[in-house]
Amino acid sequence: MSPLPAPDPAALEYSTQTAALISREIESAGGWIPFSRFMELALYAPGLGYYSAGMHKFGAAGDFVTAPEISALFGQALAQQAAQVLGLNAGNILEIGPGSGRLAFDLLSELERLGQLPERYFLLEVSADLRQRQQHLLDRFAPRVEWLDTLPASFSGLIIGNEVLDAMPVHIVAWREDGLFERGVSVADDRFAWSDRTLTSGALFDIAASLDVPPGTISEISLAAGGFVATLAGLLDKGAILMLDYGFGQNEYYHPQRSSGTLMCHYRHYAHDDPFYLPGLQDITSHVDFTAIAETGISHGLNLLGYTSQAHFLINCGITDLLARASPEQASAYLPLAAQVQKLLNPAEMGELFKVIALGKGVDTPLLGFARGDKSHML
Ligand SMILES: C[S@@+](CC[C@H](N)C(=O)[O-])C[C@H]1O[C@@H](n2cnc3c(N)ncnc32)[C@H](O)[C@@H]1O
Repeated sequence: MSPLPAPDPAALEYSTQTAALISREIESAGGWIPFSRFMELALYAPGLGYYSAGMHKFGAAGDFVTAPEISALFGQALAQQAAQVLGLNAGNILEIGPGSGRLAFDLLSELERLGQLPERYFLLEVSADLRQRQQHLLDRFAPRVEWLDTLPASFSGLIIGNEVLDAMPVHIVAWREDGLFERGVSVADDRFAWSDRTLTSGALFDIAASLDVPPGTISEISLAAGGFVATLAGLLDKGAILMLDYGFGQNEYYHPQRSSGTLMCHYRHYAHDDPFYLPGLQDITSHVDFTAIAETGISHGLNLLGYTSQAHFLINCGITDLLARASPEQASAYLPLAAQVQKLLNPAEMGELFKVIALGKGVDTPLLGFARGDKSHML
């Protein structure tokens, strides 16, 4: 790996503490923890993890850029879908992992313009630091906006999560000629090291054994993402769940061409594959297995309402019409917006790798965002 930018001393100290916490846990667990636990601690250990300690930054100055940070048109397009769901079912909006609050701001602004503001916009945010940023940005919508520490017991309306499922801990499995192995983490010479254990029973084994994966593959399975969707299915009374993320259906996820999995780390706009680098200072993600998400949702009583690429979804939601609101004659306003739309839609950038899945209950009308280019049959 080429040298990455050096952290400042305070950040380095956080990382040293995070690494020490993980090492202690490995020791008390007898020398080995599943990779999913390593990822959970590196991202979410209270006060230390990447997402809970406020080390992460969104946007150009941070570690990665998400679609809502690229363009306000993303949230405005999503608002067209939100307006349809709220129009059909009434109810509220619940956003999971709202980041800087940018998506909430653009969605609410557009819903206000459409005269379809929900009574409440709930934000489930685990980071105190991000919550403060969101409060500042969403001040204008203050009476409607409410922060939650945990998921509500029941909900009707629209649940949204952009790049949330990819941030959930994954297990790593090695499919080998001599059987299944779970890849975990141990400590050797004061460093974290990969260490495999045979996998012969349990939920992870059942899923790994049921997949059609050629020996020689090492890839991820997210029990956490499945569990999260099952929880959402249990609390949704009526309405839709919209999850946007990078990933594919199982055929592509476990394709021989992707035999070393999809785990990826982001540190100041460098993408690399070493999750042991500076724990707590970098993001760790994996692509989303949308087949697993759909199957879990369906087995917990949800209907699959649509699955398509981000490009198709945004076009179906009218993003090009939204762009046309800016006059091409005013080049200084129009050209940056056109470049942003290009980034969101271009198959070589976010258009094709990013997908949108909608699951729901009591929604009988076809959803706007999946009117053309629905790929549900590919799951
Ligand atoms: C990559 S960030 C995306 C932020 C934002 N949605 C955006 O698009 O810019 C992932 C977010 O998901 C949140 N997250 C992950 N697992 C979560 C969970 N189980 N409950 C609530 N939030 C979660 C993280 O804390 C983080 O804020």
